[in-house]
Amino acid sequence: MTKPIQIAIDGPAAAGKSTIAKIVAEQLGYIYIDTGAMYRAITLKALDEGINMASNEEAGALLMETEIDLQPSENGQLVFLDKKDVTEDIRSQNVTKAVSEMAAHELVRLRMVELQQQLADGRGVVMDGRDIGTHVLPNAALKVFMSASVEERARRRFVENKKRNIETPLEELQEEIAKRDKMDSEREVAPLKKADDAIFIDTTPLTIRQAADEILRLAKERLS
Ligand code: DC
Repeated sequence: MTKPIQIAIDGPAAAGKSTIAKIVAEQLGYIYIDTGAMYRAITLKALDEGINMASNEEAGALLMETEIDLQPSENGQLVFLDKKDVTEDIRSQNVTKAVSEMAAHELVRLRMVELQQQLADGRGVVMDGRDIGTHVLPNAALKVFMSASVEERARRRFVENKKRNIETPLEELQEEIAKRDKMDSEREVAPLKKADDAIFIDTTPLTIRQAADEILRLAKERLS
């Protein structure tokens, strides 16, 4: 059997990374790791416990006493925070608004990268996030940087939210996405950035299936 590879998918908020990464992982029989869910989980705990979100030390200490677990299921990846299923809770607007501040802390990132590298060690994985190709899996056989216009990303999020009965106006989503992009790209530690050896895919004109097929084609090239 061919040796499995690691696939890193990075890009800004709501570019379709997780939906596409899940399809690619499923087709290859690999595990899928949504690193954004891990940052969202620690953000949820920080909000619940009322810690000072601006403090690198407080955030880092909180993470050291926290257990975050990702488990595949028939309905997609489940996220457990200290053994409690928080798969839905981490998608709330409160968490979405606060997560970029939490993800900017150096102590949080150091620990998360360590956990993510352990999860990926020696297996076929598709991992999505912001710093996977640049920091978490610098030796990944395939790196993709995926984006789409901010208007298109807000429109997709709007449609997705509607299905889950979340009614956030389109303009508000566009503003939130643009703000998060800015914070994630301008932070000092491991900012959102295309790795030099990543392949850029603009998903604006593509369907989910087309984007997934393009990544599968690239993956098969590396596997052969
Ligand atoms: O992919 P997402 O929207 O669920 O990610 C939530 C936030 O987590 C995102 O705004 C930035 C942060 N993040 C990060 O800094 N590094 C990662 N590898 C993944 C996510």
